[in-house]
Amino acid sequence: MSDDASHIQLATAAPTASKVSKNPVTKAVPRGKVSVETWGCQMNVADTETMLSLVSGDYKQTTHTDCSDLIILNTCHIREKAYHKVVSRLGQLSLLKKRRPHLQIVVAGCVAQAEGRAMLKKLPVIDVLIGPGRMAELPQLLKQRKRLGTAQIAIGFPRSRSTVAAPSSQDPAPAPPLLQDSRHLHPGKNPVSRYLTIQQGCNNYCTFCVVPYTRGPELSLEPREVIQRIQSMLQSGVKEICLLGQNVNSYGLDLGRAPSQGTPFYHLLKEALSLEGSWRLRFTTSNPHDLTREVADLFGKEPRLGRYFHLPVQSGSDAILHSMKRKVSRSEYLEKISWLRHGAPDMAISTDIIVGFPGETEEDFQQTCSLVQEVGYSFIYAFAYSPRKNTPARRFSQQIPREVQRRRLATLLDIQDQITTKLNRQEIGKQREVLFLYPSKKQKNAYYGRTQHHRLVKVCSTQNLVGHLRDVTITQGNKTALEGELLREELQ
Ligand code: 5AD
Ligand code: SF4
Repeated sequence: MSDDASHIQLATAAPTASKVSKNPVTKAVPRGKVSVETWGCQMNVADTETMLSLVSGDYKQTTHTDCSDLIILNTCHIREKAYHKVVSRLGQLSLLKKRRPHLQIVVAGCVAQAEGRAMLKKLPVIDVLIGPGRMAELPQLLKQRKRLGTAQIAIGFPRSRSTVAAPSSQDPAPAPPLLQDSRHLHPGKNPVSRYLTIQQGCNNYCTFCVVPYTRGPELSLEPREVIQRIQSMLQSGVKEICLLGQNVNSYGLDLGRAPSQGTPFYHLLKEALSLEGSWRLRFTTSNPHDLTREVADLFGKEPRLGRYFHLPVQSGSDAILHSMKRKVSRSEYLEKISWLRHGAPDMAISTDIIVGFPGETEEDFQQTCSLVQEVGYSFIYAFAYSPRKNTPARRFSQQIPREVQRRRLATLLDIQDQITTKLNRQEIGKQREVLFLYPSKKQKNAYYGRTQHHRLVKVCSTQNLVGHLRDVTITQGNKTALEGELLREELQ
């Protein structure tokens, strides 16, 4: 699972799924306004989409919090401080609620799940507290809050597979107008690139991770339903779909119908990849333990999968990997990398790393630095370890002091910056196929897209490139992005 650790306020228009009656006698009830603030991983961005779809009959999305009738804080609990951030945001919103007493405030996501009833007691400003497994109940809870006058709570894990992703009647939502916003680097409610949650929860119980406690055990959407949703997204013009699951390679194992050969995830990918059209398929997140050879081999054979893979390693030291209960050693991890690069030698790989895990010695840390050099990641998400409620690592001895964690993090990020810059410079002069995702916010006639290797590229053009796959010659590369020009024959 990767996490951009940012606080994203989705600024797209809400799906206009409300149906205005054609009956002249019935007047359409004006919709209220909803604003959403999303913290955390792609899964949370996808959950935000689901919640917006669910309330879209009664609420239209706004980016102006001050004039909202409903505010949803979709929270992340993966690292420390999340709870404090939410509490401080609620403090600000309670002032707004004084001015707008009808305002309803929802705290959704993993903080809601983890803190539960205690949070509701401490913070009466909350109207509805809802865990990620219970999102489907949001409209009903909002109504109950109004009717009964008491705060509502729904936490616990999904009771049915159909709650894994947005209800299919609403999905895909009509494409919203394009966002003029450079924060839109990730697929989300981008009409070109969309997330599809195919699995919730995780059974791995890595010793540092709160996900199995906040999102529960693995639960997969039926393959038939996944394929139907992909088909309808493609029909509505989506060009890239990213399948989401906390442990996506073990998709479908909970359905209890393991095929005689290959994993359910491999079969799902094969079926999805057989769907016609010019589109890209991605998936995340992969625990190296569950990545199989046959899935890795698809990368050399299936152009739609591109040449990019996110494979979280967490540490380069066997002792730390063992203590994290990652179930793969450094050499087993490197073997999986070699699988990926076997069919696709230029495969770009990214990872997640935790520094300062309890007991991490200077030598363990050096092992992580050497692994980063050895793999040559295109980028990394690196975090200082933070103890999480319920997790075993919280009780481990030899917790690492903050200053040591900070220093290790800075060292690691420096190493990675040099690698990213070198790899991006090596792109100069190469021809790459780019899927354009959004226009630049700052520069007129400039568009951002991603190469097959998931590298961000800026291209200037008088034509609107959004939604198009184009061949581009890379002209510049630095630490953060590439620049390129459309190939001559691509210019019209
Ligand atoms: N402390 C620091 N980082 C963590 N992650 C998960 N739990 C913790 C924690 N307790 C990181 C892991 C994971 C990513 C999504 O967040 O690297 O892959
Ligand atoms: Fe957390 Fe490990 Fe599951 Fe990833 S695989 S969600 S790190 S428990």
